[in-house]
Amino acid sequence: MSRRPVFPITFAGSGPGDPDMLTLGVLRALQQADVVLHDRLVSPDIIALITGRRIDVGKMGFGHHTPQPDINARLVAEAEKGQRVVRLKAGDPTIFARLDEEIEAIQSAGLDFTILPGITAASAAAAGIGQSLTRRGRNASLRILTGHDVAGFAEHDWRSLAAPGQVAAIYMGKRAARFLQGRLMIFGAAPATPITVVENASRQTQRTLSTTLYDLANTLEEAHLDGPAVILFGLCPREAAKSLPTILLEEFA
Ligand SMILES: C[S@@+](CC[C@H](N)C(=O)[O-])C[C@H]1O[C@@H](n2cnc3c(N)ncnc32)[C@H](O)[C@@H]1O
Repeated sequence: MSRRPVFPITFAGSGPGDPDMLTLGVLRALQQADVVLHDRLVSPDIIALITGRRIDVGKMGFGHHTPQPDINARLVAEAEKGQRVVRLKAGDPTIFARLDEEIEAIQSAGLDFTILPGITAASAAAAGIGQSLTRRGRNASLRILTGHDVAGFAEHDWRSLAAPGQVAAIYMGKRAARFLQGRLMIFGAAPATPITVVENASRQTQRTLSTTLYDLANTLEEAHLDGPAVILFGLCPREAAKSLPTILLEEFA
């Protein structure tokens, strides 16, 4: 009896939400898939493009979610049935997406995989405020940080981040805002350092809060954001940059 072929599992990035930011490769994979396992943050507009079965394995911050081992097992089980499986993650699958755990699980089952990248939230947020994430003479490096990790609020190299002209994209940072603010100020970051919070980047519901390190936590508290948001440390919207005090212009414009 011939065995059904087992296809490699495709890890794909949905981008930040706007279907125009989906790559053609990911669109093709979604249209060819027998089954797509997607995260909660994948936008409804993109879920609507899935033609096969779809399984929501969304992880909620503090609510119901599919435990990671169950997601791993489901990926393997679907692929072993001979299904073309796409594992669709918001943004880019290589950034804060627990990709390695899933790859290790499918490799232990003797399965293969491919990765199709997507536009990460930081890129969409920067585009939304008309800024670049790196700029000659301002920041030659960009940090991608998480606000919290398995142990709680995440610790980072605050001293180097607090130095003038640094830029960081902080994911999952809303709840950690007061902690981030405190750490950065203790390590000497200027209270006037511009910060932009972009909620629902690229979507119709995109919201932009332009603030400073000093005001970050209060700004977030007052705004009651309920969508995903990325905190761009060291960047303000291009228009707002024109009105920065001269002393800050060189560092942050
Ligand atoms: C688990 S991480 C996933 C990141 C994703 N893999 C990426 O590359 O964008 C979830 C966090 O990504 C950020 N995020 C995802 N989509 C976003 C969007 N459309 N707008 C703003 N932030 C977003 C938020 O910080 C959110 O808490």
